[in-house]
Amino acid sequence: MSKKIVKKNPVKEAVKPKGPLNRRDFLDKTWKGLGLLAGVELTGMVSLYLFSGKEKNAEVPKQLLEAGPAESFAPGSVTGFMGGRFYLARQQDGGFIALSLRCTHLGCSIAWEEQHKRFICPCHASSFAINGEVLNPPASRALDHYPVLIENGIVKVDIGTLKERNSFRKDQLKYV
Ligand code: FES
Repeated sequence: MSKKIVKKNPVKEAVKPKGPLNRRDFLDKTWKGLGLLAGVELTGMVSLYLFSGKEKNAEVPKQLLEAGPAESFAPGSVTGFMGGRFYLARQQDGGFIALSLRCTHLGCSIAWEEQHKRFICPCHASSFAINGEVLNPPASRALDHYPVLIENGIVKVDIGTLKERNSFRKDQLKYV
C-alpha cells in the first residue's frame, strides 16, 4: 500500500492570507475610515467658524418686559415682577435698576423687607441693599441685574440679558 503524500503549496498560502493578516487589514481600514470621518468633521467645524461671522455679530433680540410709566415708581421703592424674576428698584436719586431675585450665594429667591429697606435671603440670611449690594454674607457678590430701558417715559426691562457683577456701580442705574 502506498502512502499518499500531501504537499502544501507555499505559493497558495501566501496568496490567501488567514487569521492575523486579515484582522490587520480590517483594523487598517477601520482606522483609515475613522481618520477620514474626523477630517470631514473638522473641516465642517472650521467652515462653520469661518463663515458664521454674520450670525455671531447679529444683534440678539431683546426680551422686553414693560414695567410701567416711570412716574408710577416712587424714589426708594421696590416692585416685584415675579413673572420676569426681578425686582425693579428705584433709588432715592431716581435711578432705576432691575435686580435678579436669585441670591448670588446659592440661588435661593430673595424677598424685599420694606421695614428694613433691604433684600433678605431665607436660606442662609444674606442680605442686600436696595441697589443690590451685599450687606451681609455669605453672598459675596451683588445681585445680578437686567438692562433697563426707558422709552417715552415707559420703563422696560430686558429679561433676556442677565448681567453678573461683583459690586454696585452708579453707571448701572438708568434715569428718565
Ligand atoms: S442662598 Fe442665599 S444666602 Fe445662601
